[in-house]
Amino acid sequence: MSKHVLITGGAGFIGCHVVRLFVNKYPDYQIVNLDALTYAGNLENLKEVENSPNYTFEKVDIQDAEALEEVFKKHQITDVIHLAAESHVDRSISDPLAFVKTNVFGTVNLLNVAKEYWKDELNNHLFYHVSTDEVYGSLHDGGFFLETTAYDPQSPYSASKAASDHFVRAYANTYRMQTVVSNCSNNYGPNHFPEKLIPLCINNIKNGKPLPVYGKGENVRDWLFVKDHARAIDTVFHKGKAGETYNIGGFNEWKNIDIVRLLCKKMDEKLGREPGTSEKLITFVKDRAGHDLRYAIDATKIQQELGWEPSLQFEEGIELTIDWYLSNQDWLDHVTSGAYQDYYKELYEN
Ligand code: NAD
Ligand code: TYD
Repeated sequence: MSKHVLITGGAGFIGCHVVRLFVNKYPDYQIVNLDALTYAGNLENLKEVENSPNYTFEKVDIQDAEALEEVFKKHQITDVIHLAAESHVDRSISDPLAFVKTNVFGTVNLLNVAKEYWKDELNNHLFYHVSTDEVYGSLHDGGFFLETTAYDPQSPYSASKAASDHFVRAYANTYRMQTVVSNCSNNYGPNHFPEKLIPLCINNIKNGKPLPVYGKGENVRDWLFVKDHARAIDTVFHKGKAGETYNIGGFNEWKNIDIVRLLCKKMDEKLGREPGTSEKLITFVKDRAGHDLRYAIDATKIQQELGWEPSLQFEEGIELTIDWYLSNQDWLDHVTSGAYQDYYKELYEN
């Protein structure tokens, strides 16, 4: 049977790479991208597939159960890959309720609608929940996050994602839904909204603006190229075992300050600036409240059981990312001016 896959959050950073991969790789699937188009949703990310016969877009908020039911019926959804979320830790500190509404309430709403729509044959349908390594908390004494590591979320963002993960597993246990959860490390790459560390620095270096490094820049993140995450999602969706959790990461830990310095060095080279020019823009600023010290994923399970591994080394991925931002000035201009938010009207309301 051909699959009709609902991908939520497909206009966002990771979602757009997953949508493009699925639309191009599986022409016999129908791919329905459901997204509320918040500030983080950008349909310009999907120009490459917007006219594909197996692609449809639905502007719907996952908090709206009636609209979700309509979408399930209209497209006869067989499976869900759920990425829609509020995703930025700093925003979760200033507005935690927005994170509860979308990440917790929205996810439970989506689970309910899927459960009702699939009720006569729950065994034949998969609900795949895409989550983060931040649910495991902060590593202080070495070691890695394993699938069995106890949850210990420390920010409103990670608390809301942890709650949503728990609900997904509770629906599997209570209602026998087929679910799978993956927890991935920090992503970087093309189409990343320039509020997050790497695209913010690329944009600011280009424009000669300060590079705000929180605290001393000693915090460690484990970085994965976004297309490798999309490949991992494809792998888990097709080969993962229902009821299981898979950690996704590239064994690639970096201190924030070292990443910022690497970006400065590479961009000085690419922009023909004197070595050392961009480093002068580094500005140490007040630390993030409750800033997690270190994240590090042990990705052995997905590598050994499902045969996935990252395809790119970090320096190659960073080069590709910088090149993408330098050659997609329009995308950045539209994001910074807000013009990207009119693209939905241009496409669907004329
Ligand atoms: P993003 O912020 O770039 O995109 C989120 C998308 O969800 C946007 O298109 C937005 O419009 C949509 N959305 C938000 N609220 C919605 C709602 N109520 N209804 C429908 N759509 C809504 O996020 P991202 O970085 O692409 O992350 C995608 C998923 O992957 C999230 O669940 C996030 O927790 C998870 N994740 C992200 C990272 C990362 O490094 N970015 C790492 C691991 C896991
Ligand atoms: P971010 O990209 O927001 O991802 P997350 O908080 O989900 O890990 O931040 C990555 C790291 O960079 C994190 O330790 C916070 C730090 N950071 C800065 O130092 N300056 C910034 O301007 C931003 C946005 C983040």
